[in-house]
Formats: sequence, C-alpha cells, structure tokens
Amino acid sequence: MQDYQDVLAEILIDTASLQKRVAELGKQISDDYRGEDLLLICILRGGVPFMVDLSRHISVPHMMDFMAVSSYGVGKRESSGSARVTLDLQMDIRDHNVLLVEDIVDSGHTIAAVLQMLGTRQPKSLKVCALLDKPERREAHVPIDYLGFTIPNKFVFGYGLDLDEYHRNLNFVGVVDLDKYKPAE
Ligand code: PRP
Repeated sequence: MQDYQDVLAEILIDTASLQKRVAELGKQISDDYRGEDLLLICILRGGVPFMVDLSRHISVPHMMDFMAVSSYGVGKRESSGSARVTLDLQMDIRDHNVLLVEDIVDSGHTIAAVLQMLGTRQPKSLKVCALLDKPERREAHVPIDYLGFTIPNKFVFGYGLDLDEYHRNLNFVGVVDLDKYKPAE
C-alpha cells in the first residue's frame, strides 16, 4: 500500500472544516430529535469515523446499530448499480426514529436499497445523514436530510473513505492523484 502522501493531490476538506461541520450537524440533529427516541444506523464501513464523531455532538439520548451493504467490490471504483446486505441490524427498528449515517452518497444505490429495505420494517421515521454528496454521479434519487458537504466528482479518500481499504483513519478528506495512484492488484 502506498503512503497517502504519495497519492494525495490536494486536501479537499481539512480537519477543522470537518470538525466544525460535524458539530453543526450534531447540534441540528439534537434540536430536531429533542424529546424523541433516536437510533443511529451506521452503514459500514465508511460511515464509522463520521458516526463516532457525530454521536459525540448529539446531546439527546440515542442508540446505535450497524449494517453493511456491498455496492462496490474491493478495488473497483464504479458502482455496480445494485446493493446487497452483507450484515443486517441487531435491533428491531419498529417504532424507532431511524437516522442512517453514511460517509458518501455517490450513485445513490446503497442508500436507496437500505431505505427500501428498512422502510418495510415499520420504523417511526427514517432519515438520512451523509457527510459527502457527489451529485454528479447520482443514478438513484435519494433524499439526504442532513448533509455535510457537496463535493465535485473526484476520487476522494480519508475520514472513512478508503483507498484499497487503507487510510479510512485520516482526519481529512483528500483527492487522489490519479497519475501517482497504483490500484491494488
Ligand atoms: C461506499 C460508501 C457508501 C457507498 C456509496 O461504500 O461508504 O456506502 O459506497 O455509493 P453509492 O451511492 O454509489 O451506492 P462501499 O461499498 O465502498 O463500502 P465501504 O463503506 O465498506 O468502503
């Protein structure tokens, strides 16, 4: 695996901007769900750093659960146009206010599939919080109720988004230099 410094073209969203926006989203969510039940559902794996940081800024009591949906194969950067649940929730979401937490909405197929599936389980409400939105890539229309940043159609990594499974831990969102990046075999 290449060091991230060797493939970083530019920092798209720096640490201070991320922290500020995540805190704002946490405040907004806290205001909206005050006095209400709340269940955060993290879409693994990219949503983990965002959900952990976001949760610390949500002042209303809330629960967490996790699910995994596969839409991209390892090493592929294009959406397959379909999504498959590879890890289902532990909790019964019936009558709970569910907020899906995602790192990025790209084609929209992942969130569209999750919304459709969870919608059948009779949650009290079902909303979406995404850190990043790449609208130029959208194929499936999905509502994003809470959004961190709209970004251009660039290959980004860091803060949950991987580069061949590495570098999800970075505290910024960077753009990959495609002239220097060598995809994993
Ligand atoms: C990424 C990302 C979203 C999805 C967005 O996940 O975390 O879940 O793709 O793409 P879409 O809008 O085109 O469906 P990925 O499948 O790469 O898994 P990961 O989170 O484990 O990296």
